[in-house]
Amino acid sequence: MKILSIIGARPQFIKASVVSKRLSDHKNVSEIILHTGQHYDKNMSEVFFREMGIPQPDYNLNINNMSHGIMTGRMLIGIEQILFKEKPDGVIVYGDTNSTLAGALAAKKLLIPVFHVEAGLRSYNLQMPEEINRILTDRISNILFCPTDTAINNLFLEGYKNHDCKIIKSGDVMYDAALLFSNYAEIKSKILSDLNLDNYVLCTIHREENTNNLNRIRSILTALNRINNEIPVVLPLHPRTRKILQLNKIKSRVRTIEPVGYIDMIQLIKNSHLILTDSGGLQKEAFFFKKNCVTLRSETEWKELVEHGFNILAGSDHRKIYQAFQFMINKKNDFNMKFYGDGNASVIIAQQIANWVG
Ligand code: UD1
Ligand code: UDP
Repeated sequence: MKILSIIGARPQFIKASVVSKRLSDHKNVSEIILHTGQHYDKNMSEVFFREMGIPQPDYNLNINNMSHGIMTGRMLIGIEQILFKEKPDGVIVYGDTNSTLAGALAAKKLLIPVFHVEAGLRSYNLQMPEEINRILTDRISNILFCPTDTAINNLFLEGYKNHDCKIIKSGDVMYDAALLFSNYAEIKSKILSDLNLDNYVLCTIHREENTNNLNRIRSILTALNRINNEIPVVLPLHPRTRKILQLNKIKSRVRTIEPVGYIDMIQLIKNSHLILTDSGGLQKEAFFFKKNCVTLRSETEWKELVEHGFNILAGSDHRKIYQAFQFMINKKNDFNMKFYGDGNASVIIAQQIANWVG
């Protein structure tokens, strides 16, 4: 049985790497990988394939750096052509990017079953492109693999009990990846010595709501510069954020570095004192590696972390971010809670898919 997996953006490489490994345990399943090309820089794409052992994509559509409509539309056209050619028995899509939506839509219109990994998440903010992508993808998926109880509950609130689909609580594949690569990162990563880092907080910013709003990005940088007076801030810069900062001459006194691969990222998280981020993945990885988190957004899909005091939603106001930093930097938390499964989400997902097609 043939499965086509669609990936395109950084977090999808991580998610697909663990699921792909588990799919290969099933003799009745063969996997084809399609990279839409959404992320294309070496540090945003290539490095993940190399260090995480993801099979090289069978197809790369090289679609990137365009408006949402053009990008999603071209992906839809390109993916459909490959679906016609390959005739897979099912398509796996990950997360909430434009590649996710294009993949799900192309497959569903051809009556090919869609399996959505990381289903059921909601920010309830329809200004986010990701929220639109995930609502639409969930609605047309045949199996919805939910990482958390919150995700399952979100679907029930939307009436999914009455829809013709299967809802599975799989746990979170990002937790699987964190467990799988944690020791390897310890041995392989040289990032701490290369950058001469020991005492720092780690920050990432890439979300459109922050990068496309000058007031917000300026305010975030004001907070980071202030925090940097107390403890060095390390900021691996997503290319879109770098462009916005340069174009608008926004001053940063923090230590900016190129985006790093996943192995280096794990080391950076593990050895940091605190995470400040607008990334979905980083909020959870902070928790996996027992770090407090300040989120540079006003809402989150990972609300269990906020409810239990592991994360504060600070938005973009520099005063709120600084206050949250002061509160979280010394807060002691007990991280022994299980929100994200047992680290076998990818096993459950591969098994379900193998049963479905097999
Ligand atoms: C996308 C996802 C977002 C996810 C993020 C992971 C959508 C709508 N958004 O956002 O949910 O959290 O990926 O990082 O799908 N760029 C480069 N090189 C690259 C990639 C991007 O220079 O390798 C620059 C380009 O100028 C591009 C811009 O970043 O136009 C935005 O890239 P895009 O893929 O549209 O969105 P992300 O912000 O990466
Ligand atoms: N990440 C990485 N290098 C970086 C920044 C992020 O490897 O320079 C990893 C991060 O550890 C997480 C994933 O990429 O696992 C999350 O990606 P991102 O923040 O781009 O997207 P989101 O999770 O918000 O969709």
